[in-house]
Amino acid sequence: MKSFKSSTFLFLLFQAIILINHQVRSDDEDNLLQGMNKYRASLNLTALTKNDNAACLAEQIADQYKDQPCTNTTGSNTVPGTENNFASYPEFLSHCHLNITNTRDGQIMPACVPDLDPSLVLMNFTKSQYSGNLNDSTYSGAGIASEGNWIVVVLTTNSSSGSFETYEGSTGFIYSPNKLYHFIMFLLACVFLL
Ligand SMILES: *[C@@H]1O[C@H](CO)[C@@H](O)[C@H](O)[C@H]1NC(C)=O
Ligand SMILES: *[C@@H]1O[C@H](CO)[C@@H](O)[C@H](O)[C@H]1NC(C)=O
Ligand SMILES: *[C@@H]1O[C@H](CO)[C@@H](O)[C@H](O)[C@H]1NC(C)=O
Ligand SMILES: *[C@@H]1O[C@H](CO)[C@@H](O)[C@H](O)[C@H]1NC(C)=O
Ligand SMILES: *[C@@H]1O[C@H](CO)[C@@H](O)[C@H](O)[C@H]1NC(C)=O
Ligand SMILES: *[C@@H]1O[C@H](CO)[C@@H](O)[C@H](O)[C@H]1NC(C)=O
Repeated sequence: MKSFKSSTFLFLLFQAIILINHQVRSDDEDNLLQGMNKYRASLNLTALTKNDNAACLAEQIADQYKDQPCTNTTGSNTVPGTENNFASYPEFLSHCHLNITNTRDGQIMPACVPDLDPSLVLMNFTKSQYSGNLNDSTYSGAGIASEGNWIVVVLTTNSSSGSFETYEGSTGFIYSPNKLYHFIMFLLACVFLL
């Protein structure tokens, strides 16, 4: 009985740590989405809706950048046309169950901001070369992910060439932070019911 209790406690602690980590990280992302949508509202454009499939791709890209330092030639300071082209891009797509045919019109926008300072992050999107994408009515959705000092926004469209629909109807369980969150809540509920 005693060992059961301590293992239950460790399990709860572990889940709580995951939960807290998740909350902190998704705050950065939610703030940015809200800020971008205020910017769009000021231009009379529709709000970008959250797209989990695009967020999965954003996570893959952020993971590639996370160890690079911020300089005046990285992120939103990149000279257009000189962005990184990832050799493993097809693998990122297949990891997220995405097809090149319906992600072609998407827009990938990485930014590097020390400690992801919220107002600097927002300005890196609304006051940089990226503003030309944010003020474009073509885009209707966004997936956001962050790693270290890097935050990546992937814009989606409502057309078939930018819908980011997965070929299996879903990105699968573990790729979606929202689903992961609900799964953890479900696990916690199970533990309390024991
Ligand atoms: C947005 O719409 C309002 C009301 O229709 C109009 O007064 C305003 O000038 C528009 N702003 C822009 C940036 O188009
Ligand atoms: C970037 O920074 C380097 C050194 O810090 C400087 O020499 C260069 O002029 C800067 N470039 C731009 C585009 O600001
Ligand atoms: C991607 O889409 C194309 C055209 O719709 C289709 O031929 C191809 O089989 C799809 N690939 C995957 C992995 O679903
Ligand atoms: C983007 O963030 C950097 C910090 O990495 C900051 O120095 C720069 O001013 C920001 N760019 C814009 C356009 O706000
Ligand atoms: C969108 O932004 C681009 C680049 O900043 C600018 O040239 C263009 O005039 C803007 N369009 C609208 C509708 O605000
Ligand atoms: C895109 O589709 C979503 C959901 O179907 C809808 O809410 C939104 O208004 C559409 N946006 C545009 C720009 O068509």
